[in-house]
Amino acid sequence: MFPLAGRFLLMPLVLLIGVSHSVEALPLKGIQLSFPPFTSTINCSIDGSADTLLKPSDICTIGAQAKQVILSADNVISARYQYKKRVQLWLPRSGYAASFSTMFVVAFLRSGDRVEVGNFNSFGGGIAFAITPDQKVGSSGPESFGLFEIDDKTGMSLRGGNTKTLAVEIDISRRSTVQTFNDPQIPHVGIDINSVKSSAANSLGTFRQVVDRKLAVFIDYDAQKQLLQVRLQILGFAANTTVMPNKKTARLYLNYRNLRLSSIVNPESYVGFSSRLPEQENGAYVLYDWKFSTTWVPVSY
Ligand SMILES: *[C@@H]1O[C@H](CO)[C@@H](O)[C@H](O)[C@H]1NC(C)=O
Ligand SMILES: *[C@@H]1O[C@H](CO)[C@@H](O)[C@H](O)[C@H]1NC(C)=O
Repeated sequence: MFPLAGRFLLMPLVLLIGVSHSVEALPLKGIQLSFPPFTSTINCSIDGSADTLLKPSDICTIGAQAKQVILSADNVISARYQYKKRVQLWLPRSGYAASFSTMFVVAFLRSGDRVEVGNFNSFGGGIAFAITPDQKVGSSGPESFGLFEIDDKTGMSLRGGNTKTLAVEIDISRRSTVQTFNDPQIPHVGIDINSVKSSAANSLGTFRQVVDRKLAVFIDYDAQKQLLQVRLQILGFAANTTVMPNKKTARLYLNYRNLRLSSIVNPESYVGFSSRLPEQENGAYVLYDWKFSTTWVPVSY
């Protein structure tokens, strides 16, 4: 009688332990996002403080068969184009963190008479791949990419401890006359940690060499090595190139060490793009591809 009752009592307990164990099973499963098609799982949000009647759907326009996203506005404005749900990037006290890989193809396309008269002046501020705590678009100027409001002299975020942002910027904002916080000449690629004065940057040559081209950008973060690498590949003219993105032939522009993502961003953060958009009459930024994936690895911190 007694051993039997004991077994019955034990059973629910075992089930409970089983359930709670599977919820916290480590390492966590990584995620994989892949676009196109560009669907409503990505959220377009615009600077709410801007004096404009524009709606997000006027700003992030989905192209034919949802194969591309055209970012431009008939007014100066910043916008985010980020995955709707937060993504788990680390887990406190678990001994595990996510490594991530992301790849996107973008083109800064001139339009109309800019092309006819051979005007290669920059338009908009550029685009950044960004990991952010929310989708609240920053309202500062072109060099801020809509990431957060900045101190114009230093590039530092005015959101203080709530900034929690890591970004990789492709900067094409005008900077030739106002050398405010000493970012290198445009165009350049840079790593931004709670500031748009980049922690590391590298030149992309001349504006003329990157404009109207498809650029494939590869960003890889290794949570074990605490290493962030940024590679770029110029695929050719957006109008007629057939070259496919290939990380193996992309050039390494940034090799940034001692980057502990868990010290910068929230465990669950938004991923995607932040941009100070060009005005339609000057051109548009076009996104053709975006892939993002995480893999959980054991870490010693
Ligand atoms: C998506 O964007 C809209 C504005 O376009 C914003 O109000 C909303 O908060 C965003 N969603 C999330 C999950 O942040
Ligand atoms: C490809 O497109 C560029 C830019 O539109 C143009 O200058 C070039 O002549 C084109 N090349 C070919 C082979 O069509």
